[in-house]
Amino acid sequence: MRTFTETELVVASHNAGKVREIRELLASFPIDVLAASDLGLPEPEETGTTFTENAVLKAKAAVAASGKPALADDSGLAVDALGGDPGIYSARWAGPDKDFAQAMRNVEEKLQEAGATGPEARTGRFVAVLALAWPDGHVEVFPGEIEGTLVWPPRGEKGFGYDPIFRPEGHERTFGEMTADEKHGWRPGAASALSHRARAFKSLAETCLRR
Ligand code: IMP
Repeated sequence: MRTFTETELVVASHNAGKVREIRELLASFPIDVLAASDLGLPEPEETGTTFTENAVLKAKAAVAASGKPALADDSGLAVDALGGDPGIYSARWAGPDKDFAQAMRNVEEKLQEAGATGPEARTGRFVAVLALAWPDGHVEVFPGEIEGTLVWPPRGEKGFGYDPIFRPEGHERTFGEMTADEKHGWRPGAASALSHRARAFKSLAETCLRR
């Protein structure tokens, strides 16, 4: 595993919710965070068939376009009763207008069609894969997951994407009802993390980052 010794890092995402969370997670490290959208980097087509392939593809595209090291996150919601959907297509289910109220309704409609009414039938997980890529072609990959239950109706206005319908295991509130700190459930040095992204970030931080 390679230690990250550079001072600048491009966050290879055009998703404002993700960029905000990655900035928060990186806040106590001596790294200047540059967002792909601020640098005007193009958004590559996500042609991979797995979270890992898409994360690596996005990180490498940002390195190629910026000449700087880049961190990408590919993530999504995998619902058991829907055979793992929307999975790597989680962003696409919101359509070109990025309408997540509609995307959450789509999930609920399909759960109803599948007869998944009780909580035990409405299980799923958020998955995140972080890829850290350097200009010399080296890449490190870190996965993270959090199990939970899909609730209806949506609850809470915080977070982004599918947060209002996801209640993480062991908690009463949805991610949409949690503050950013509660959703991450992690600070540098902490023994555990809550969200899929924070869990992936924890292993990245413990492996590659210096405080
Ligand atoms: P990507 O940019 O293709 O990785 O899209 C990931 C999509 O998954 C996002 O647009 C969200 O819809 C969803 N997603 C990923 N992480 C989260 C999260 O932490 N909360 C809510 N939705 C998420």
